[in-house]
Amino acid sequence: MSKETALVRMAMNEKPGASAQAIQHHYDAGDDFYQLWLDETRTYSCALWDSQDESLESAQFRKLDYHIAQARAHDAERVLDVGCGWGSLAQRLVRAHGVQHVTGLTLSASQKAYIERQAWPGVEVRLENWFDHAPTGPYDAILSIGAFEHFARPSQSEAEKVQGYRDFFRRCHGWLKPGGWLSLQTMSYENSRREDFSDFFNKEIFPESDLPRLSEIAQASDRLFEIVTLRNDREHYARTLQVWRHRMKAHRAAAVAQVGESVVARYDRYLQLAMIGFHVGTMGLLRIAFRRLDRSLG
Ligand SMILES: C[S@@+](CC[C@H](N)C(=O)[O-])C[C@H]1O[C@@H](n2cnc3c(N)ncnc32)[C@H](O)[C@@H]1O
Repeated sequence: MSKETALVRMAMNEKPGASAQAIQHHYDAGDDFYQLWLDETRTYSCALWDSQDESLESAQFRKLDYHIAQARAHDAERVLDVGCGWGSLAQRLVRAHGVQHVTGLTLSASQKAYIERQAWPGVEVRLENWFDHAPTGPYDAILSIGAFEHFARPSQSEAEKVQGYRDFFRRCHGWLKPGGWLSLQTMSYENSRREDFSDFFNKEIFPESDLPRLSEIAQASDRLFEIVTLRNDREHYARTLQVWRHRMKAHRAAAVAQVGESVVARYDRYLQLAMIGFHVGTMGLLRIAFRRLDRSLG
C-alpha cells in the first residue's frame, strides 16, 4: 500500500478487517443453533486432539490450556481475549487458571449478551473492534483464537493486508507489559492462493474476511514480536470439523427448526469443504506464541 493510501485510510478511520455487520451475519445466526453442534462451552475454533477416542469437549479444553500456557497467562492479573466468542477461554482463565480479570472483545451482539447473562466473576465483555480498543492499563497476556481470519478483507492487496495485520501487532505490543506474550491461533492459506477458492465462503459464510499467509504474519509482526513456537495442526481442524458436522447431522431436525433448511444446507457444505481443505493442505491451522520485543524497532 502506498503511503498516501495508508494516510487516506487512517483519515477515514477505516478498520482493516470485516465490519461488525459482516461478523454478525455469521455469529448472530442463533445461539441455540450453534449450541446444537459445538461443544458445551461453545468453543468455535479448532481443537487440540490427543488420542483417537477422546471427546470434543476434552480436546477443546486441551486447546484452551495450551494457549493459556503459551501466553504465560496462568495466575495473571489482566488478560485480553481478542475475539472471545461465547467466552469459553475467558471462563477457563478465571475458573481454572486463577486469572483476576479478563477483557473479551467481540463484534457479535448475541455473543456479548450471552456472556453477560452468565455473569462470570472477573469476565468483562465488550462489543468492540480491537482497532478501537483503549485499555485502562497494561495486560499481562493477550490471546486470540480463531479471530485473525477476520482481520483482512478479500478486496485488499497483499500490502494492505500486511499493513492491517501490523496495526494489530502494534496495538498488542503497546497493550502488553514488557516481556509479555501473545498466543495466536488462525487458519491460513497453505498450498493455495486466494484465487483458488470459489466465492462460496466469502459470499455465503464469512463475508469481508480473508485468510492470512504465514509469511504475512511474520512480516507484520517483525521487530515487534519474536516468534517462539509455531505449529501447523491442520489435521486437527479436519477432525474438529468432522465432529461438528456429525453433531449437526444428529440434530438436523432441531437445526432446521431453528434456522431453516437452506441455512443448514449452507453450513453443512461449509463444514465439508473446509474439512477437505484442511485434509489436503490448501489450508493450515497455525498456533503461534509471540514474545514482545522490549526494544522494538517497529
Ligand atoms: C470463530 S469466532 C472464535 C471465538 C473464540 N475465540 C473461540 O475460539 O470460540 C471469532 C470471534 O472473533 C470476533 N471478531 C472478529 N473480528 C473482530 C474484531 N475486529 N475485533 C474484535 N473481535 C472480532 C468475532 O466476533 C468472534 O467472537
